[in-house]
Amino acid sequence: IDETADIRMAANYILMSKTFDWGILCCAESTIITLKSIADRVRRELEKLGAYFLKPDEAKAIENVIFTEDNRIRSDVVGVSARKIAELAGIKVPPDTRVLVVELPDVGRGFRLSAEKLVPVLAFHVVESVDEAIEKCRKVLEYDGLGHTAIVYSKRRDVIERFYYALKASRILVNTPGSFGGVGDIFNFKLEPSMTLGCGTWGKNIVTDNIGPKHLLNIKRVVDRRENMLWLKVPPRIYFRYGCLEYAFNDELKGRRRNAILLCDPVIYSLYAKRVRDILEDMGLDVHIYYRIKPEPSIDEVVKALEATNEVKPDTIVALGGGSVLDVAKGVWLLYEQPKVDLRSASLRFMDIRKRVYRVEPLGRKAIMVAIPTTSGTGSEVTPFLVLKDSDSKIKLTIVAYEVTPTVAVVDPYFVEKLPKRLVAVSGFDALTHALEAYVSVYATEFTDPLALQALKLIFRYLPESYEKGTLEAREKMHYAATIAGMAFANAFLGVGHSMAHVLGSVFDIPHGLACALVVSQVVKYNAVWKPLRNTAFPQYKYYSAPERYAEIADYLGLGGKTVEEKVMRLIEAINDLKRKVGLPMSIKELGISEDKFMEKLDFMAETAFNDQCTSTNPRHPLISELKELFIKAYYGEV
Ligand SMILES: [Fe+2]
Repeated sequence: IDETADIRMAANYILMSKTFDWGILCCAESTIITLKSIADRVRRELEKLGAYFLKPDEAKAIENVIFTEDNRIRSDVVGVSARKIAELAGIKVPPDTRVLVVELPDVGRGFRLSAEKLVPVLAFHVVESVDEAIEKCRKVLEYDGLGHTAIVYSKRRDVIERFYYALKASRILVNTPGSFGGVGDIFNFKLEPSMTLGCGTWGKNIVTDNIGPKHLLNIKRVVDRRENMLWLKVPPRIYFRYGCLEYAFNDELKGRRRNAILLCDPVIYSLYAKRVRDILEDMGLDVHIYYRIKPEPSIDEVVKALEATNEVKPDTIVALGGGSVLDVAKGVWLLYEQPKVDLRSASLRFMDIRKRVYRVEPLGRKAIMVAIPTTSGTGSEVTPFLVLKDSDSKIKLTIVAYEVTPTVAVVDPYFVEKLPKRLVAVSGFDALTHALEAYVSVYATEFTDPLALQALKLIFRYLPESYEKGTLEAREKMHYAATIAGMAFANAFLGVGHSMAHVLGSVFDIPHGLACALVVSQVVKYNAVWKPLRNTAFPQYKYYSAPERYAEIADYLGLGGKTVEEKVMRLIEAINDLKRKVGLPMSIKELGISEDKFMEKLDFMAETAFNDQCTSTNPRHPLISELKELFIKAYYGEV
């Protein structure tokens, strides 16, 4: 009771409540806590209405009447009048006594009457401040009433609110008598009328409700299977064919944009930056270049490139490079437009991958992003993904945000004509793994399947030629294949091959595409079983179909074979054959990583791969131990 309360009403309500069935309801007042400034008035009002304040020796006698030696309430005093209890204790009280009140200095074990008492006896505490009052209420509840009922008499909304937030009580009654307020429907409208009051987990119950008829009903629910909607999200515009860059810039930028920053790495800078800058400048754009992006970038790389971008304040971000540059540029674009985004927390770990899509406001208010890939692998120019290393843990974080899908992708084979052989092979296997994983993903749809198949066809047909001879035709087709595979996995997502490649790459500094190549055959074999121990759950994925899906790929590639098993084997052979043709190792061991070093990291790698985002769309949901086996097989090159 605070000083703003209607004290006369409070006293009346407490007496009315406590005399109802002589305090037998568990929501009846047990303890009064009042401020010192009004304590005398409260006492007087209570006395006027028939409260008898006990003297210390009387209080002791009452205590012994109410409680047994082991602190239980004696059954013969429950529901008995105050006068009867006084009589049992040998105390003489006025004949019109309605409740007994005992003043207590504190709450807890040494003060037995501070516990719950289902009799017309009240504890009475005087405190200095509202803070102290709330603290004392908290103590009362903690001692013998967690999750139950608390009552506040006040006209101050802020006091009521503090009371509400501070106390673990399922019913907070305001200016209301405990018995009649707690049981609901008499002094309020929202509490269910009931004499059985839940106290929640605070009081070791399962609900905080007043238990009503609805809690006693057995309710059946018929729930139909529903499929969630899906999407195909790709950049608004994709330009392709040899030499399309100039056309694309003309179409997109000329006369519309003024100030561009070109983001790239030192190698690409020396090869192509001049040409790109010249075209942009010819169209009247101011061009600034930031060329310090490092491979396998961390979030720090984004921060550095962002500083340069913030200085320039561009209306166009041109990203020219491989996956690392494009991923950094996406991060820069996101933070340039929305500085409050925290990239670390943008990597979400929900099981449902749709919830892992990080939602931000649409980008493009300050700048558009033009992505120009200079390798044929990552597909980053058309995807919503950023893969960045956490600067501290060095683990690769995957962030999915469709808003960072570039505004324009320019897939100009000019930029891969002189791509070094090794990069052709490695990035080619990245693209191959994207298409394979997107096709068997539980998110694969009618919209992504054709993209994945077409990419695979192009890769199997043109990767060897692109590698050996570097003909423009082969380079061109591989360049398209990577982008097409990118569109497939931007929407169908990936699988455990990528989960394993991510951690393998970061632990042993293996280029991403090579890491993919080192595990991809093992993953196909692993998925292509009829009885996987566990399936990945997704309503659109009606039954486990990975073996048939791989067989479909084999058919599309014309690999032959009669049964599904044969077709899967032919596909694995074709993948291995392709690896040999482009000079890639068949095992992790061949990279010169010692057995000891590999085995030492095995547990860590298996667990990290398990937690990788890509795992949740793989058709077979792995055990960590299965991932370990897969890593071991990949190490020795066994399929
Ligand atoms: Fe990849």
